Amino acid sequence: MIEMQDVTKKYPNKTTAVRGISIHISQGEFVYVVGPSGSGKSTFIKLMYREEKATSGQKLEVARHDLLKIKNKEVPYLRRDVGVVFQDFKLLPRKTVYENIAYAMQVIGRKPREIKKRVMEVLDLVGLKHKVRVFPSELSGGEQQRVSIARAIVNTPKVLIADEPTGNLDPETSWEIMHLLERINNQGTTVVMATHNKTIVDTMRHRLIAIENGLIVRDEAEGEYEFDD
Ligand SMILES: Nc1ncnc2c1ncn2[C@@H]1O[C@H](COP(=O)(O)OP(=O)(O)OP(=O)(O)O)[C@@H](O)[C@H]1O
Ligand SMILES: [Mg+2]
Repeated sequence: MIEMQDVTKKYPNKTTAVRGISIHISQGEFVYVVGPSGSGKSTFIKLMYREEKATSGQKLEVARHDLLKIKNKEVPYLRRDVGVVFQDFKLLPRKTVYENIAYAMQVIGRKPREIKKRVMEVLDLVGLKHKVRVFPSELSGGEQQRVSIARAIVNTPKVLIADEPTGNLDPETSWEIMHLLERINNQGTTVVMATHNKTIVDTMRHRLIAIENGLIVRDEAEGEYEFDD
């Protein structure tokens, strides 16, 4: 599902954020990516949805896409198979909840009838059918994150990548988001999530990949993690 062999990312300013990482993540896994601030977590996962290009590597495959060979114009095809969720939601402020989610289907040419049906389906899944016509600014943080998750999964991606999805949320709301991610994972979607949340990592146990200074220092089927921040 996700395969990296000796992948390195060096930014133009000469910072090497990922140093020859090799990893295999299977279909249906739920993986936490943890580590100190600046250790390379975001860069590691940005490589998976081609937000950043690897500087070098033997292999970098995600959902059967070869990210070492993929051309810029092919990236939209990758994004059908890889949904992404951010800490700050990144919803379009001038579009309603419905439009924010529908947009992800419109850009890949889905038919209006199909879009309507599927948008209502994912809104139901995240429990926000009653908010279909409101704007992001009229929603709580947790609701905005649920909309952004709905948008990320509307095209039924094989992988859902989340960079600190609970980073801006209070503990109770964070748990709601985690239960939602777990439900999506239980439906077969691979979930890769960078997080700083010790309570979540220690309580809702999943595979744990720890990164320090651009290297994987731990990779365990489950475990606790001592965050230093
Ligand atoms: N666009 C960029 N250009 C140059 N250097 C960058 C860029 N993005 C990140 N870096 C550097 O790469 C290293 C890894 O950053 P990254 O954002 O991957 O860390 P992180 O583990 O996600 O940190 P945090 O927990 O604070 O989100 C850091 O030294 C950072 O300063
Ligand atoms: Mg980060």
